[in-house]
Amino acid sequence: MPFYRSVGQIPDKRHTQFRQPDGSLYSEELMGQEGFSSDSSLLYHRFRPTAISSSVIHQPERAEPVPNHPLAPRHFRTHKLDGAGDPILGRDHLLSNADCRISYTIADRPSPLYRNAIGDECIYVEDGAAHVETSFGSIDIGPGDYLIMPMSTIYRIVPHGEAPLRTLVVESSGHITPPKRYLSARGQFLEHSPYCERDLRSPAEPLLVDGENVEVYVQHRGRGSATIWTKFTYAHHPFDVVGWDGCLYPWVFSVHDFEPITGRIHQPPPAHQVFQGPNFVICNFVPRKVDYHPDAIPVPYNHHNVDSDEVMFYCGGNYEARRGSGIEQGSISLHPSGFTHGPQPGAPERSIGADYLDELAVMVDTFRPLELCEPALNVEDTNYAWTWNRDPGL
Ligand SMILES: [Fe+2]
Repeated sequence: MPFYRSVGQIPDKRHTQFRQPDGSLYSEELMGQEGFSSDSSLLYHRFRPTAISSSVIHQPERAEPVPNHPLAPRHFRTHKLDGAGDPILGRDHLLSNADCRISYTIADRPSPLYRNAIGDECIYVEDGAAHVETSFGSIDIGPGDYLIMPMSTIYRIVPHGEAPLRTLVVESSGHITPPKRYLSARGQFLEHSPYCERDLRSPAEPLLVDGENVEVYVQHRGRGSATIWTKFTYAHHPFDVVGWDGCLYPWVFSVHDFEPITGRIHQPPPAHQVFQGPNFVICNFVPRKVDYHPDAIPVPYNHHNVDSDEVMFYCGGNYEARRGSGIEQGSISLHPSGFTHGPQPGAPERSIGADYLDELAVMVDTFRPLELCEPALNVEDTNYAWTWNRDPGL
């Protein structure tokens, strides 16, 4: 994140002696991006963050993704997934390419400690609640929250409450940030941005946990764009940071704090952008007043973004443009490059005169084609591709 925060105890001057009550030195760690040339934080550990006592291969069983071939728009019903695992190792992979992987989880138990050494993660909470424990401290998440977890942060997710934790996860091959056009040259949110610093939450105090011989699952870089896993055993619990400061840390933004940009005629998706990543963007469509030109058609026109595969996750309200298509709460549609998509038959006429759309959806547009993972194919509604080819009255 672009702005500076300081939590817990830190010395007055960086890289100087900072001693524990017993007189020994705290272990200082710089966690930073782009080789000392971008955002970073300094963390002060009670124990050496380098001390591991074992390293073993962890090999999750996953089928290889397959191309979207023959090319078709797709509809996946995430609520039909089995789920009931933990929120990290239990992720059901749905769609992936070399830039990002999109997963869904239905989780009812705590995850183990985990580090994603490939890139940042964006975790959107559809339903349920959880306590997220990290080296930087804890954050609570609930429905509508986006959690942005920086690459290589050690963390775990502890669901709580009656309902299972339902999350849409975007694992990036790089860093996920607010769109650059929302920020000043020095990283402050600008006035035209639909959200700003006051809308963000992050750990407020250190989290200290005692423990020895603690396992941490690490997802890291393999050959080419492959991801592989290792399980480390740390000599001491990695949640031993008494203080940290800097501009790199986990943070949360609620979709309900996104201030929609509206207009007299239909606003294109870039007006709804919330984050950017390498070769993909994340947008959200929130409940909002809609187009007020007297002849406006509030639902989208047919469109073909020739460079993008478009993923929509329908997570609240009624998505008017898809009425009658089988899309339901928790559905994901994939509208790939090479296929023109648009509103379902009858939706443009029905939308005329509406002044408010009660819809909530998260969109991921990728600039390289997405492949289909086995769990997605298991919950596919194979009739979706033909739903534009029918009577508008149905
Ligand atoms: Fe679209």
